[in-house]
Amino acid sequence: MSKGRSVFRCTECGAEQPKWGGRCDGCGAWNSLTEEPVSRLVGQSVRQSASGQPPIRLTDLQQTTIERWKTGLAEFDFVLGGGIVPGSVVLVGGEPGIGKSTLLMQCAARLESAGVSTLYVSGEESPDQLRLRADRLQENAGSIHVLGETRLESILHHAAALKARVVLLDSIQTTYTEELEGAPGNVGQVRECAARLMRFAKEAGPAVVLVGHVTKGGGIAGPKTLEHIVDTVLYFEGEATLDHRILRAVKNRFGSVDEIGVFRMTGAGLEPVANPAAAFLAGRTTGVSGSAVTALLEGTRPMLVEIQALASKAGFGTPQRVATGLDHRRLAVLLAVLERRAGLPFGNLDVFVNVTGGVRLAEPSTDLAVLAALVSTVNDRPIPADALFLGEVGLGGEIRPVLGVERRLVEAARQGFRRVFLSARSRVAHADLEVVGLEGIGELTHRGGRGGLAA
Ligand code: TYD
Ligand code: MG
Repeated sequence: MSKGRSVFRCTECGAEQPKWGGRCDGCGAWNSLTEEPVSRLVGQSVRQSASGQPPIRLTDLQQTTIERWKTGLAEFDFVLGGGIVPGSVVLVGGEPGIGKSTLLMQCAARLESAGVSTLYVSGEESPDQLRLRADRLQENAGSIHVLGETRLESILHHAAALKARVVLLDSIQTTYTEELEGAPGNVGQVRECAARLMRFAKEAGPAVVLVGHVTKGGGIAGPKTLEHIVDTVLYFEGEATLDHRILRAVKNRFGSVDEIGVFRMTGAGLEPVANPAAAFLAGRTTGVSGSAVTALLEGTRPMLVEIQALASKAGFGTPQRVATGLDHRRLAVLLAVLERRAGLPFGNLDVFVNVTGGVRLAEPSTDLAVLAALVSTVNDRPIPADALFLGEVGLGGEIRPVLGVERRLVEAARQGFRRVFLSARSRVAHADLEVVGLEGIGELTHRGGRGGLAA
């Protein structure tokens, strides 16, 4: 081992450089290079030798279904694809205070109660603090094994000795291996620890659930390669001031990505939300102008969200455009389309648009709802509470179909909506819904139009 030598690794892309520089040659990021000692033998030719199983034909393999351990936290199991897969490594990322440790503790308690032995390792809290946390939770957490440890070698030893079937580690950034120099949390340490845990999981068979802190940019702190190493990457998100928390799968070798689970943070821990599709509609006021509802598709799951718009006479200077939960450029486009294609003047109005519940609109399918909310506020005419809008709006004012429209309709009907405005090109029907097909936005804004939102 050539102790003393070091390389420089980019914290953004994981590229390696022999010399320090202000900028990474790999991805062009600034100030992202950190020193990392070289620990492996480099530059030696690799000799061939057999180890493990020889290659085998796929057809000679027994058909297997993946075994899963259900945690009993319904939304967590859903996002994982049905439960925790033995031998897999799951990374749960999120900002401080979002509820990662709470999720892991509840998960451990449920698994333990179901007879799956767990080890909860924390480098962030002492066992006493863990005990305090466990006492707050309405879970049967008494039989979980906890360990306050940050040295990987010791963690692996105890996990093996305990024959733990699920090892929960809080967090990967506080864990270090003595085989590498450098403080816990540095790129080399994070990567090496994750790789060793991955090997441990694959060889010894337990599942490992890791907590990963996120950086200001929103990525998991450490090299991007951390996400490549593990099997499943989940992000825990939410507004600190709101009690809803969203768990999102961004990578999943044992399930689909983009699936989300919805929780509520209560005084006694996280509670899976029973009707997630309507979670963000709670507290909606009806009969007020400027509010429109749409159905987003989060993975396979439709979610209903309310969009609120308010237009009021501007004071001096340039009118304000404030968008919360959607891209302000998208708002500017929709305002321009309304102005040019429907003759609705916004030039001397301040416009505020807000997506309730801290949701962010990322799909163009929500255009029509934003537009309907704008038309409703300008005309000061409320939209009927049972109406829903689905459609992308083009620059010509044309309304385009959206993906997965059937699934969105089914959910809309289930949540009590009765009328859905969408693209005339969609050609869909639903027994419980009046489906109103629109060619262009004029039908929404003109007197006598099929949309009927005109003043
Ligand atoms: P925590 O799981 O410690 O977050 P993380 O590990 O992601 O940093 O949870 C932090 C917040 O959750 C904290 O502000 C307190 C709150 N909380 C509850 O509201 N109810 C509870 O039962 C628990 C355990 C925490
Ligand atoms: Mg924590």
